Amino acid sequence: METSIQSLSSKVHDILQEAEKAIHASQSLDALDRERVHWLGRKGVLTEFLKGLGKLPPDQKPQVGKIVHTAKEKVETWLEACKLRLESEKRKIQLQQEKLDITLPGKSRKYGHLHPLTRVASEIVNVFVQMGFSVEEGPEIETDYYNFEALNIPKDHPARDMQDTLYLSKDLLLRTHTSPIQIHVMKERKPPLRVIAPGRVYRADDVDVSHSPMFHQVEGFYVDRDVSFAHLKYTLVHFAKRIFGEKTRLRFRPSFFPFTEPSAEVDIACSVCEGSGCRLCSGRGWLEILGAGMIHPNVFEAVGYDPSAFTGFAFGMGVERIAMLKYGIHDIRLFFENDMRFLEQF
Ligand code: DAH
Repeated sequence: METSIQSLSSKVHDILQEAEKAIHASQSLDALDRERVHWLGRKGVLTEFLKGLGKLPPDQKPQVGKIVHTAKEKVETWLEACKLRLESEKRKIQLQQEKLDITLPGKSRKYGHLHPLTRVASEIVNVFVQMGFSVEEGPEIETDYYNFEALNIPKDHPARDMQDTLYLSKDLLLRTHTSPIQIHVMKERKPPLRVIAPGRVYRADDVDVSHSPMFHQVEGFYVDRDVSFAHLKYTLVHFAKRIFGEKTRLRFRPSFFPFTEPSAEVDIACSVCEGSGCRLCSGRGWLEILGAGMIHPNVFEAVGYDPSAFTGFAFGMGVERIAMLKYGIHDIRLFFENDMRFLEQF
């Protein structure tokens, strides 16, 4: 009897040695699973052993059962240890394969920015806002009255010609300038007024380097008691220095507009030749930047202001022209073609 237990014990010992070797040699979780089935499965080597127990005399059963049971536990421990090892190796490999190179440059996203005209227009407006002007807008479709009549532009004025103005009907037109905003605001409000008014304007012009049927203007006006030409001059000198630089010199040339008296055209000294004459200023030394003047008494009459009580100045400028002078752009069409190579420079 002793010998049979001893031989069984050594048999189990041999099996365990073999099982330990095989389990530890497993290179994958699948292979390990096959080992589990081979040793502990329903028809596994150790399970077959247990089946044999039934044939043993009852007094030997507990001893043999213990031997086999201990053996099963050992195999299970090895399987578990090996499983942990293989899983951690697998995870390590996975992590290595999924490794992100955080030193790679990111995909840069293109940010948009303001169109140069929008930027220049708001720069202009801001200079006046900082002087206490309020921002107003008006309709792009106007009546003959607001665009011409109330601004003292006579019936036979060339601007009223179909060739210069885009008419929608006999009385409706696309505003040719931002000056009608003066009329809207003055009719609605009472002095003192300090207003800056940007907007689109339209003219029946063919497109070329300096013409576009749609362009932008900024209108400004100041109405109060005792407003003088000196106020106008001070305001515009300050404006020009803010937009074109501290050293900018200004020239006021007598001119004519129906809605101002006296009227002036304002030039800045050419930024390239500083006044001596060059190609940019066509040898003149000066570049026109805007029209201005003291608001005509007839305009005050039209909006119901007493011209003997109030005075005011007004001015109007083209945004494209200011932008072209500021950035040295020679073709107005660049603003409207949306060529990224042009726009990205701003
Ligand atoms: N409205 C004029 C134009 O389109 C510009 C202008 C000139 C506006 C003199 C004014 C001004 O307010 O006083 O050419």
